[in-house]
Amino acid sequence: MAGGAAGAIGETGTGCGVGLAWLASAAPPGARLVSVERDPGRAEAAARLFAGDGRVTVLCGDWREIAGHAPFDLLVLDGGGGGKAPGEEPADPEALLAPGGAVVIDDFTPGRAGPDPARAHWLGHPALRAVELRLAPDLSSVVGVRAG
Ligand SMILES: C[S@@+](CC[C@H](N)C(=O)[O-])C[C@H]1O[C@@H](n2cnc3c(N)ncnc32)[C@H](O)[C@@H]1O
Repeated sequence: MAGGAAGAIGETGTGCGVGLAWLASAAPPGARLVSVERDPGRAEAAARLFAGDGRVTVLCGDWREIAGHAPFDLLVLDGGGGGKAPGEEPADPEALLAPGGAVVIDDFTPGRAGPDPARAHWLGHPALRAVELRLAPDLSSVVGVRAG
């Protein structure tokens, strides 16, 4: 990413800002980063952490608020939008990604027993070219690029 276009980077589930810090550290000066966290304490702490970085905005709210800042060149779904929780509607990559933009969903378990509907959803999404990256025998991420 550091060598690519400035771009717009989104994240759902800021937590305490660890992933956001990695993203910000690799993002070029012209990037903008928006992350949303529903827990007010975490959102406030993360907003304080990034107060000195004008590229970064931390929102407190439901993950769907990220849509107001789309389209993204890179979108990390780490707290909402991954479609992993029962009944949770997955994010719409066509609405949230710029053409050629990438979405990342992590914390899958390759080879786990039984069906994995969220993993199947992302790997088979018609608007994406998606692959699963196996990071450890029991851990993988799915990365999908919006075609066109
Ligand atoms: C796995 S943690 C995020 C870790 C963080 N991205 C990091 O790299 O350190 C998930 C976070 O998502 C938040 N979260 C869960 N559901 C959410 C939702 N519907 N909207 C916004 N945030 C949500 C949780 O409060 C939690 O802080």
